[in-house]
Amino acid sequence: MEADAVRDRTLFWCSASDMADPIRIGMIGCGGNARGHMNALRGLEAARIVAVCDLKEDLANQMAEGVVGEEGDGLRPDVYADPRRLLERDDLDAVWISVPVFCHGELELDVIDRGLPFLVEKPVARTMEIARQVESAVEAKGVMTCVGYQLRYMSGAQAAKAELDGKRVNLAAGQYWSGSGRGYKNAWPLQMDKSGGQLCEQATHTFDMMRYLIGEVATVSCRAASRVLHEIDCPDVTVTTLEFECGALGSMTTTWAFDPADWSEANVLHILYDDKLLQWRTDKATLRACCETKALEAAGCGIDEVFVEAIRTGDRSLVLSDYGDAVRTLAISLAANDSFADEGRVVDVSCY
Ligand SMILES: NC(=O)c1ccc[n+]([C@@H]2O[C@H](COP(=O)([O-])OP(=O)(O)OC[C@H]3O[C@@H](n4cnc5c(N)ncnc54)[C@H](O)[C@@H]3O)[C@@H](O)[C@H]2O)c1
Repeated sequence: MEADAVRDRTLFWCSASDMADPIRIGMIGCGGNARGHMNALRGLEAARIVAVCDLKEDLANQMAEGVVGEEGDGLRPDVYADPRRLLERDDLDAVWISVPVFCHGELELDVIDRGLPFLVEKPVARTMEIARQVESAVEAKGVMTCVGYQLRYMSGAQAAKAELDGKRVNLAAGQYWSGSGRGYKNAWPLQMDKSGGQLCEQATHTFDMMRYLIGEVATVSCRAASRVLHEIDCPDVTVTTLEFECGALGSMTTTWAFDPADWSEANVLHILYDDKLLQWRTDKATLRACCETKALEAAGCGIDEVFVEAIRTGDRSLVLSDYGDAVRTLAISLAANDSFADEGRVVDVSCY
């Protein structure tokens, strides 16, 4: 994307829009992550959460109370324990889906069947088969989608994107070092069959940022080990080498056994081009050249606000990662998982 286009787009996001009726949203999945979406949507005049659903009805009720708010100023959404009941409503404009990785598939197909735009959390599925099935249904029905790679919309990523426009990247080194392996206890993210492990559940953000800033990944080779957290069935350290289609090389290291205390230091990407080093973190981007370091500036925006605006205006170009795009990010994680299961075999990502 041209640097100017990035600037224009971010300005557009941040401009106040003429309001008609708010977009009426149903939320499916009311766990920890959904609360962030709820808080963002609550603050938008252009959106209204009219229905919430979780298989655990108490969580849906808690979410409904969150929508009402401590001041009691929000309208209480209707509560459901069955997503199909929620989808029977005829007043929905869009659906937000925030369920565990292994719960994707039927849910999206039901939403697509209703022809509703939807935002779905990353990674989009546990397997490529499910992801491709949903992708085909999205294409057939033509529904607007947005996947929760929200870091793309933030100022650090926008500044890095503008800086790298037209540049020839040589080398990228990403890391996702978090203490989530201890924090999640025995929850689904720590179960390989349910989450796909750290490369799929968490480091998908870093792989996605590599794709967004550098381009498609051609091959991966991954090694993994269990060094500290022997009680879980996922590796707690991984090293992946990547070859990008543009010819750049990359590395990615992950651990689930180290808590960086400052969350913004967990997910980091170093990119070398020309004689410069661009460092991206979730909260900022900096550039080092000739021993000088400068902060890169750009406007950013929240993913919920952007998708509401995209639905309201019908402008799909506002969405920076739609379903089909996110499937290509998923392929990298699953290819890396297959590689470490096969002792580091080089895997062609395009075959996924
Ligand atoms: N974009 C981000 O930065 C970010 C951050 C954290 C989590 N996530 C993603 O968000 C998703 C949810 O994560 P979480 O931490 O909230 O998980 P969670 O386990 O806390 O909550 C998920 C909820 O979904 C409910 N659920 C499952 N299947 C359902 C169905 N068919 N209908 C209705 N409810 C259903 C569960 O009962 C559960 O309460 C995951 O994909 C995760 O990777 C994204």
